[in-house]
Amino acid sequence: MKNLILIGFMGAGKTTIGKLFSKEKGRNFVDTDERIVREQGKSIPELFDERGEGYFRDLETELLKKMLMDTKGAVISVGGGMPVRKENRELLRMLGCVIYLSATKETILSRVRGDGSRPMLNGEDLEARVIRLLQERETLYKKAAHVEVRTDGRSVYQVMQVVDQETRKWL
Ligand code: S3P
Repeated sequence: MKNLILIGFMGAGKTTIGKLFSKEKGRNFVDTDERIVREQGKSIPELFDERGEGYFRDLETELLKKMLMDTKGAVISVGGGMPVRKENRELLRMLGCVIYLSATKETILSRVRGDGSRPMLNGEDLEARVIRLLQERETLYKKAAHVEVRTDGRSVYQVMQVVDQETRKWL
């Protein structure tokens, strides 16, 4: 059975949708951030602080390679930066059907404000950071994905329904 992989910007709802969708479909759920944190015994902010972003990105690539060997038929949500590396985009598409959960900057800002757990959004001027990262990443998300599902103005359950419809032919 194919894997279903959710990609998208921080706050797009990858983990929330992934957890509920996997339950509904009776599939295993894997969250790459959670797996990295468990395997490293450190939180994401600690990994960024102590080892730097490059180290975290290498862990992400290694994990994708491992999952190609050991993960089948799962719903997988990946960190927002995973599709930035070309190698990762190729690995993601090999791993299964890739869904891009997209959202506008307004939606993202409303979801990530006040959350200190994301090092890429720490510091001054959250809005400027979101705008810059979104600009850098939007085309990369589209390149990595087989299907785009918009999340703006939709409830979690409405997004799940669209994901279900859009992925039936792939799975
Ligand atoms: C990141 C997104 C985070 C996490 C890390 C870096 C990013 O995951 O992997 O903080 O570069 O977009 P979420 O998208 O689940 O917040």
